[in-house]
Amino acid sequence: MVGKKIILAVTGSIAAYKAAHLVRLLVKKGAEAQVLMTPSAASFITPLTLSTLSKKPVFTEIISDSAWNSHVELGLWADAMVVAPATANSLAKLAHGICDNLVSAVYLSARCPVFLAPAMDLDMWKHPSTQENVRRLKSFGNHFLPVGYGELASGLVGEGRMAEPEEIVTFLEGFFQRKQDFSGRKVLITAGPTYEAIDPVRFIGNRSSGKMGMAIAEEFARRGASVTLLLGPSKLNPAHPGIQTVRVESAREMHEAALQFFETTDIAILSAAVADYRPRNVAEQKIKKAGDSMTLELEKTPDIAASLGKMKRSGQFIVGFALETTDELKNASEKLVKKNFDFIVLNSLKDAGAGFNFDTNKITILHRDNMRTDFELKTKAEVAEDIVNEVGRCIGVLAF
Ligand code: C5P
Repeated sequence: MVGKKIILAVTGSIAAYKAAHLVRLLVKKGAEAQVLMTPSAASFITPLTLSTLSKKPVFTEIISDSAWNSHVELGLWADAMVVAPATANSLAKLAHGICDNLVSAVYLSARCPVFLAPAMDLDMWKHPSTQENVRRLKSFGNHFLPVGYGELASGLVGEGRMAEPEEIVTFLEGFFQRKQDFSGRKVLITAGPTYEAIDPVRFIGNRSSGKMGMAIAEEFARRGASVTLLLGPSKLNPAHPGIQTVRVESAREMHEAALQFFETTDIAILSAAVADYRPRNVAEQKIKKAGDSMTLELEKTPDIAASLGKMKRSGQFIVGFALETTDELKNASEKLVKKNFDFIVLNSLKDAGAGFNFDTNKITILHRDNMRTDFELKTKAEVAEDIVNEVGRCIGVLAF
């Protein structure tokens, strides 16, 4: 944390008293903490306490003492913005871009990662409005500190306690340490569907959006890897400069590109939904409608995963995906061995919000020694982080 510039935004909850301890911990770790408060937060803890601990003036208003506290400058200055405690009201404002105070205006201007530590009563936390705002904020790439369970200020017992300051600092440290942990590694990712031509107009395809593979590509690139993304027909366009995108259409094209890049690859993530069969003959002209039925003869496409699994040398690491509707675990673990993956990610199609085209996913990771981890329903960005962390642990770049 040494030298890290942290904006600590305190909003109006009784848990604001914990902000004093959080500032103290950040300063002790060598970080520079700039405290911002909403007007109501200042009723729970005085700006004087937080400015004394942070050794900096605390800002509560966009305009104070006829000076303008530039939200844009503050937003650009920070390496991270932490909103702790984050009330239901503030989460709602941030989720919808309402900037009627300094905290929400800085949030909109911030280019740095944002960490939110919610604090509220259990019914406010459980309320669908709050949960919808949390989902929305997560889908924008914000990071949430998990809420704790226990006695709340109201006397009720349940979920809604703000994460402890020590937990928040550990979370931030982990985030900064992880930042470049894949630098120098070459990662090959297949993503999206493939289209198998029937004639110049029609194709056989599937509903894959490419979102999961794209999120994994972005997570690896953000953490310093050099990523080659073999992307089937998808509307998405990766923005990160660490991602080289190779557009392909069919399984054959994806296979050829994968063989070309695999030689120099350290880690391959095979998340594409590759068609298993393609028309044996592609008509040169659009096929005319004739008769009540028609038959297409199909042939097998190359299995990219199996080819790379056969070519895999020591030091190379392959992650496969499985999407099963029956005997999920059994089928996934058979694929893991057959295709020589190091681990396999099992996608659920049974859970609402998981699978194709959603922004969320629910996965199980299966290892060759039968070790298995079931994850909660999360945003695809968070799932990508879980998968990349798991690769990091397996190849020894992450200790936890
Ligand atoms: O056999 P199945 O298609 O269920 O295997 C899924 C895994 O194999 C995924 O990782 C997928 O990207 C990969 N695969 C492939 N080439 C194929 C078929 C599947 O790379 N032709």
